[in-house]
Amino acid sequence: MKHNNEYLENERLMIKLIIEAIHLKYGYDFSQYSPAHTKRRLEHRLALSGFENYGQMLHEVITNESFFDELLLDLSINVTEMFRDPWFYKAVRETIVPHLETYPFFKVWHAGCSAGQEVYSMCILLEEEGLKDRAQIYATDFNSLILDKAKQGIYPADAIREYTSNYQKAGGKESFSDYYTAHYENVILKKSLKDKVLFSSHNLVTDGVFGEMNVIFCRNVLIYFNRDLQNRVLKLFHESLCPGGFLCLGSKESITFTDLVEAFEPVAPREKIYRKRRQL
Ligand SMILES: C[S@@+](CC[C@H](N)C(=O)[O-])C[C@H]1O[C@@H](n2cnc3c(N)ncnc32)[C@H](O)[C@@H]1O
Repeated sequence: MKHNNEYLENERLMIKLIIEAIHLKYGYDFSQYSPAHTKRRLEHRLALSGFENYGQMLHEVITNESFFDELLLDLSINVTEMFRDPWFYKAVRETIVPHLETYPFFKVWHAGCSAGQEVYSMCILLEEEGLKDRAQIYATDFNSLILDKAKQGIYPADAIREYTSNYQKAGGKESFSDYYTAHYENVILKKSLKDKVLFSSHNLVTDGVFGEMNVIFCRNVLIYFNRDLQNRVLKLFHESLCPGGFLCLGSKESITFTDLVEAFEPVAPREKIYRKRRQL
């Protein structure tokens, strides 16, 4: 029993050292990500890489930058899709669009945008609502490899069936095929969808306020953070939103148990759409 406990304790220590090494060498701070998430992802990479233990992995992280790049992809989890949770986009049309219609100009920030599917979904929605020309859209992620993919807007053709179905369920008004051209195994999104989008690197842990926004999307990112970091990032969003601005979270995320619960009014609680109160 003692041996077992000591083994687990050593393993925890090694994981801490890997996280610390990543911070010191590459500047990415994962110390406040949920420990269960970090452990699962490191376990996954350990099994794939063939290292015998975390000690070997620590050495590799420090000495081999391309190994770190792989690990960064593991730790950042980039799973996404177009019109993910279609009922959410339906709620965006119903609750946020009528407010945006009253503005001559507005800003939208997609924080943790991954490979861009969420951003282009919003661009399509805004185009169909006749609002795209009034928008400035910021798409950010801390993972530069994934951000490059987002800029390209090229996706595997075999994902299109699901994207099309999501688009229709989300209340899409046209034919989804109007928005891309097929090219061998890929589809290339219509270039004009990018007209209003600025892609840029931004780390929610270390970087500050990004500008005054009318809408912030940060979907399926906070789920990987511990409570303290969630509070800090929500505070950053609160500071970045104009009064009456909207915050959109992912389906498994909520502000209910955070310090910011009073600062936002739930607009569509099931869809995790919140509105910054004008006054507290
Ligand atoms: C699961 S994806 C979510 C993508 C998209 N928002 C969606 O809901 O489909 C999580 C994204 O958060 C990004 N991410 C994780 N930690 C981050 C941080 N500290 N700063 C910025 N982006 C981060 C990851 O690189 C990844 O692209």
